[in-house]
Amino acid sequence: MGKVYYISKNVGLGLLVLGVSALATIIALSIAYDKEKAKNQGRPGDGAADSTSMPTPPATLFTPKEPWDRYRLPDSLVPVSYNVTLWPRLEPNADGLYIFTGHSAVVFKCVKETDLIIIHSNKLNLTNFHGHLAKLSGLDEVTAPTIQKSWLVVKTEFLVLQLRSRLAVGATYVLYIEFQGELADDLEGFYRSEYTEDGVKKVVATSQMQATYARKTFPCFDEPAMKAVFSVTIIHKRGTVALSNGREIDGVIDGMPVKVTTFEPTERMSTYLLAFIVSDFVSIQSNQNNNLLIRIWARKKAIDDRQGDYALNVTGPILQFYERYYNATYPLSKSDQIALPDFNAGAMENWGLVTYRETALLYDPIVSSTGNKERVTTVIAHELAHMWFGNLVTLRWWNDLWLNEGFASYVEYLGADYAEPTWDMKDQIILYDMYKAFAVDALASSHPLSCREEEVNDPAQISEMFNTISYNKGAAVLRMLSEFLTEPVFARGLSSYLNTFAFDNTEYTDLWDHLQKAVENTPGIHIPHTVHDIMNRWTLQMGFPVVTIDTRTGILPYPLFTEVFEHVIVCVCCFFQALSVINRAQIIDDAFNLARAKIISTTLALTTTKYLSKEKDYIPWESVLRNLNYYILMFDRTEVYGALQAYLKKQIQPLFEHFRTITANWTRVPSGHTDQYNQINAIGIACSMGVRGCRELIRGWYRQWMETPNHNPIHPNLKSTVYCSAIAFGGTEEWDFAWMKFKNTTVASEASRLRAAMACTKTPWLLNRYLEYTLDPTKIRKQDATSTIQYIAQNVVGLPLAWNFIRARWSYIFQQYGKGSFSFSSLISGITKRFSTEFELQELKKFKEDNLHVGFGSATLALEQAIEKTTANIKWVTENKAQVLKWFTEASK
Ligand SMILES: *[C@@H]1O[C@H](CO)[C@@H](O)[C@H](O)[C@H]1NC(C)=O
Ligand SMILES: *[C@@H]1O[C@H](CO)[C@@H](O)[C@H](O)[C@H]1NC(C)=O
Ligand SMILES: *[C@@H]1O[C@H](CO)[C@@H](O)[C@H](O)[C@H]1NC(C)=O
Ligand SMILES: *[C@@H]1O[C@H](CO)[C@@H](O)[C@H](O)[C@H]1NC(C)=O
Ligand SMILES: *[C@@H]1O[C@H](CO)[C@@H](O)[C@H](O)[C@H]1NC(C)=O
Ligand SMILES: *[C@@H]1O[C@H](CO)[C@@H](O)[C@H](O)[C@H]1NC(C)=O
Ligand SMILES: [Zn+2]
Repeated sequence: MGKVYYISKNVGLGLLVLGVSALATIIALSIAYDKEKAKNQGRPGDGAADSTSMPTPPATLFTPKEPWDRYRLPDSLVPVSYNVTLWPRLEPNADGLYIFTGHSAVVFKCVKETDLIIIHSNKLNLTNFHGHLAKLSGLDEVTAPTIQKSWLVVKTEFLVLQLRSRLAVGATYVLYIEFQGELADDLEGFYRSEYTEDGVKKVVATSQMQATYARKTFPCFDEPAMKAVFSVTIIHKRGTVALSNGREIDGVIDGMPVKVTTFEPTERMSTYLLAFIVSDFVSIQSNQNNNLLIRIWARKKAIDDRQGDYALNVTGPILQFYERYYNATYPLSKSDQIALPDFNAGAMENWGLVTYRETALLYDPIVSSTGNKERVTTVIAHELAHMWFGNLVTLRWWNDLWLNEGFASYVEYLGADYAEPTWDMKDQIILYDMYKAFAVDALASSHPLSCREEEVNDPAQISEMFNTISYNKGAAVLRMLSEFLTEPVFARGLSSYLNTFAFDNTEYTDLWDHLQKAVENTPGIHIPHTVHDIMNRWTLQMGFPVVTIDTRTGILPYPLFTEVFEHVIVCVCCFFQALSVINRAQIIDDAFNLARAKIISTTLALTTTKYLSKEKDYIPWESVLRNLNYYILMFDRTEVYGALQAYLKKQIQPLFEHFRTITANWTRVPSGHTDQYNQINAIGIACSMGVRGCRELIRGWYRQWMETPNHNPIHPNLKSTVYCSAIAFGGTEEWDFAWMKFKNTTVASEASRLRAAMACTKTPWLLNRYLEYTLDPTKIRKQDATSTIQYIAQNVVGLPLAWNFIRARWSYIFQQYGKGSFSFSSLISGITKRFSTEFELQELKKFKEDNLHVGFGSATLALEQAIEKTTANIKWVTENKAQVLKWFTEASK
């Protein structure tokens, strides 16, 4: 699955200081998300987990007596193939319920004697045949035992059949089941997604099986190692199109009011990779890759507006890249990718039918920014990497998820780099995976990459595997492995692994075996330990090592750290151009991490930022701004902020001038991909730090737009920053113009930029009015309410207003918005992010007490964490404030 925190990773840090810290939210989210995961049941891979459920009790040594009370399937039966027919109804029935009906026949083989059939089935109403929930028959003249009784086990999501006699080892049987399910809008299994086009409500039936929702669509052996061949048939209304993993074979049957689409049988595959979609979407296609059919599907309007063109352009090359990299041809006969309105995860790698959020697949050359485009490229590269790694060869069980997701999160940079060679994509893994992994892995709440199969059983434990450690640390560790083995050796081992285990399952050590073989078969390469030994250090323990090298002697010492680091910093400030961009960024990020761990002093970490007035590259700047964001949050209501502002102003000024020059007085777009991101930083920070000429520039652009509302002169890359700054430094007129544009736009990304920007105003009554709007669904859509309140709270002027607002209306907000939404817990963490005084801590505790009778729902844990974090902030501020003030004051001279 794609990473959810892909969302707006490139929005530009300039916004942070102005109040709308989209990026900080993303970082914080991934951390908070990780923690949430540890305690709550939630949906893997997306941010909207339903976390109303209670924390799961700790695992006990108690082993359930009955096989159906365990969460894992017994090993007595293995599926061979399924025939599945599904008929979703896109209109509600007489009871107002959206349903689907269907039937399935699974052919399975008995490999161990048993008189029980246990198969997954969840939330399905099964048809009764002569008192039983299924029909059993034998294949190839085998006589099937009769069913004694059959029942459903809700807790473990099983259908159980007790037979009167035993199944014969080696014999093959068919289990036939008819069922009816709800096509709910719950984003699980076969579900319903709604959107409006030209004022008309449309319904799409679509699916999300990972990790444990296939069993909610039809009864199946729903574990990744239970691979089988699936022959799918979908019944649907004329005028709609049905899609699944295989290529469609035929459609219309004369004389029927519905269409019956059957699909080519799939290859042997896992249930979690199945997909079924019925919609009235249209597609564009190409078959340049050796006649492979490649299609991009979306709403008709989006396809007509050519928003699918970019995805189609990059898919062919990315698939070609992987075919060469893996030395294995694309394993299927077609590649469909579809953009769904309101898809909750980032994307899902269903085999041959990949599903995406619209913003992860569609790109509009006029309205979208460079960041939007990069996201499309990297998400496609991530999902397509899974077509081999994960789908063709699948890890046996969810405890090894980190290898699947870490791998795709690493090679997505290689795939994207091939599609867009000028973007320096391979450097960006540092920012988006490595630093993120460091930030989370340094916490006491972190955990090792690898865990034992027995530790992961129920769906909640499986969900917990989808976290920052799996994705980001997994990617960073695999990149390191590939670097030290060298890429050709890594690729050779990989190819041998994929070809050996095609259509089958593995454990993570199988990859190490094949890499080790590749090392041994490559003359001239020698590694001091085996791949196993080396990788165990990284996968079996949490955290990461601090290695101290005396740069004067090359010796690895222990206690000298501060002195050594000072030496390194001197090197950075003198000769910084001799170091690569990545190393410059690394030294800075390391320094701040070490300061947090109290290995070096805070001021020594700050010293790494001194050379910045000479720095033009994006990655080191981004590294600094992310780290300074905490300082800004802690100090922007204190006298430290004046000194911090003076310092950053001095440091950013040359960057601002640099971009003015290379863009010919802001009339051109910088040609470098990352330069485009850094231009956003330069403008955003310069304006908020008061660099001369910045505010005038922004105000000029915005005024121009206000004068000619149908012609927006602001480049898409700069819109978020410019809107926010112009509204921050403007008044009612600027705000009202943004509101009018917000209500009038039909482009989702434009609406969300404007919605964030309106929270940037410094005018209290405008902020209070905006807060009131958030509880009026005719003004702000219900799904956007809590994030809008958060945007306001991230503005230093808006913080006390938002805090008062939610305290005054807690019970109403809780009733209206508190039902199991993930954004609800980030509301609490968002509002309390700046809390760092004893007074705020007392207020927070009082808020908790006063509202115990109302409850906090999915924000319960967030509230506990907020209290914990506020306490930690108070301590940090007490320890660091004086020296930080002194440092900034001196450094800004
Ligand atoms: C599955 O469908 C195919 C094609 O209709 C049919 O030949 C086959 O017998 C079916 N298998 C089972 C087990 O029902
Ligand atoms: C399943 O059966 C229950 C009980 O009869 C009923 O309330 C529910 O609506 C049914 N669900 C579907 C999707 O038919
Ligand atoms: C897709 O490729 C075509 C042909 O190279 C090109 O003309 C077009 O601009 C590309 N579209 C996008 C959105 O990149
Ligand atoms: C690619 O695969 C082919 C066939 O499996 C094999 O003969 C060849 O050696 C492989 N090439 C590399 C570079 O691994
Ligand atoms: C840059 O543009 C501004 C207005 O956008 C103008 O006032 C200024 O003179 C220009 N400077 C140069 C050097 O062209
Ligand atoms: C509102 O949108 C419509 C169509 O998108 C456009 O014609 C109209 O000019 C817009 N109005 C304003 C005030 O921007
Ligand atoms: Zn993935």
